[in-house]
Amino acid sequence: MTIDIESKLKETRVFEPSPEFSKKAHIKSMAEYEAIWKRSVENPEEFWGEIASELHWFEQPKKVLVWDEPFAQWFVGGKTNITYNCLDRHLTTARKNKAALIWEGEPGDQRIFTYQQLHREVCKFANGLKSLGVKMGDRVCLYMPMIPELAIAMLGCARIGAPHSIVFGGFSAEALKDRINDAGAKIVVCSDESWRRGKQIPLKANTDEALKGCPTIEKNIVVKRTGGKVPWNDKRDIWWHDLVKDQSSVCEATSVDSTHPLFILYTSGSTGKPKGVQHSTGGYMVGTYYTNKIVFDLKEEDTYWCTADIGWVTGHSYIVYGPLANGATSVMYEGAPNQPHDGRFWEIIEKYKVNIFYTAPTAIRAFMRWGEQHPQKFDLSSLRLLGSVGEPINPEAWIWYHTFIGHERCPIVDTWWQTETGMIMISPMPGATPTKPGSCTRPVPGVAAEIVNEAGEPVPLGSGGRLVITKPWPAMLQTLYKDDQRYRDAYWSQVPHKYYAGDSARTDELGYFWIMGRLDDVLNVSGHRLGTMEIESVIVSHEKVAEAAVVGMKDDLTGEAVCAFVTLKRGIEPSDAIIKELKAHVDKEIGALARPKKLIFTDALPKTRSGKIMRRLLKSIANGEVTSGDTSTLEDHGVLKNLSDLASTEDDAT
Ligand code: WTA
Repeated sequence: MTIDIESKLKETRVFEPSPEFSKKAHIKSMAEYEAIWKRSVENPEEFWGEIASELHWFEQPKKVLVWDEPFAQWFVGGKTNITYNCLDRHLTTARKNKAALIWEGEPGDQRIFTYQQLHREVCKFANGLKSLGVKMGDRVCLYMPMIPELAIAMLGCARIGAPHSIVFGGFSAEALKDRINDAGAKIVVCSDESWRRGKQIPLKANTDEALKGCPTIEKNIVVKRTGGKVPWNDKRDIWWHDLVKDQSSVCEATSVDSTHPLFILYTSGSTGKPKGVQHSTGGYMVGTYYTNKIVFDLKEEDTYWCTADIGWVTGHSYIVYGPLANGATSVMYEGAPNQPHDGRFWEIIEKYKVNIFYTAPTAIRAFMRWGEQHPQKFDLSSLRLLGSVGEPINPEAWIWYHTFIGHERCPIVDTWWQTETGMIMISPMPGATPTKPGSCTRPVPGVAAEIVNEAGEPVPLGSGGRLVITKPWPAMLQTLYKDDQRYRDAYWSQVPHKYYAGDSARTDELGYFWIMGRLDDVLNVSGHRLGTMEIESVIVSHEKVAEAAVVGMKDDLTGEAVCAFVTLKRGIEPSDAIIKELKAHVDKEIGALARPKKLIFTDALPKTRSGKIMRRLLKSIANGEVTSGDTSTLEDHGVLKNLSDLASTEDDAT
């Protein structure tokens, strides 16, 4: 089956939810959505207060919101523990023997944890942490593959009020070291190795490398995953299985303030080092609980699968905390979508009869490339709802997803949000909102979004501008870890009195939002945010490099790819060997996800008279577009010509 995509105008296609879907949905019509949304933004405290009361509090909140711009405190005076809501709360109900986590390993092994079993494992690990001297407020860094112990470790930390900081397992030793040091973590948890496309990735060896420069780390807990040989330091290292072996399976959930930090998660900013986004306990819990329920129309009988890695915010909110707070069954898969074959995801959906499937546009584009013959080999009839996150989904990918995965039956929720927002902010309500491919449609209840110009004034419908959030929401970041000033500067100074998301967007005649991309120097590679500055400083740190500028270039598969313009030191000639060296250097310092796809050597970078690198110009060169911008301020026109010539020396051998 082929479908004609190009001949249709994307904005004109509208997909209504089916009446059968709407009838059973939590929100059944646009009228119902409009009413809930209106009430929620007119009366946010009442609205969020009611949702909070669906969860368990050791002490009830006294005030829903204390807003001292730009600092929000949610559910003030309330005491709770997110793991009590994710685990204990279900143990007195029929959910106690329900699968909380269904885990599938890349090699095909499988582990299933009921709520009772998960509770037991979390308690044992939490007691293990206590036995190592971890106390409320201590930071614990998790550098782990997608194995159940990662979820258990997060919950174990939260159980005793120790904020976790998860570092994606694809990051390098250098990146891990920086994040451990910024958070001042006391403990790091890793595994011996991880599986990735059948290969073993040496997480413990990377951790050892990082720990050469991490004075705050006292212990390294190591999960045995592959059984590979690992370096060992008797004084510092301890096996996970030895730590938990004799621990009691009872560990009371520590009562923490609603505003107690639950975790730190590092994300790229436009300048300088990664930002330590800090989230609260109560607000984050209420926000993820509610959005997981209404955006995914989550029901008791659903099997729900989000394919993100827990190392990113999507995994935090919608593999672990949101689903478990709802008492859902969450599927977790360790490996790559094409291991050992291109239909692995569809096989998993068939095997576990997955009902709700949440993935990223970059993955969908890869599936399109591999071809629809792969999903066609499997029974996908259990699916009833699809989701997308991480970057704008292009209409072709949307239609493919709708046709070959959703069989034209499943609503698609295109969810816009960020590490900082903690929860989904703009998304269709699947039983209510007519969807348009490429639009994330309308804000979820409780969220007020707007598009403004540089002066902070709302723009007319249809015009592009900056996406801002105009009211505080419960899962919003509290601050950047130990850096209130940077928090103010990054999010609350660009547009007065509004949260600045860093994205550009427009709205259409229905008030639907269309995200256009980032406005700052942040790239979105496969849905992962990378700061151009970070990559530049790594390239410049190479001994042979004099200067570098990094820009994004369009990429069919990953959305954006990294393109680096590099000036080498005098006397050093460009060569394939240097290209290899520079790529390996980026791999080592940040991780393969930041590796430039294209390196362009140039004798000089184009600069304005005031010395600013002309990124717009470099971007158009990288994208093979003719430069239409005004280059009259360009200092040396020779460089431009030179650069355009050189742009053909593309290297795609990644
Ligand atoms: C982009 C991921 C368009 C956006 C949850 C945002 C999207 C950044 C969408 C956050 C979407 C995320 N449509 N763009 N549905 N979802 N983005 O922090 O640029 O890794 O600012 O959080 O991804 O990325 P982050």
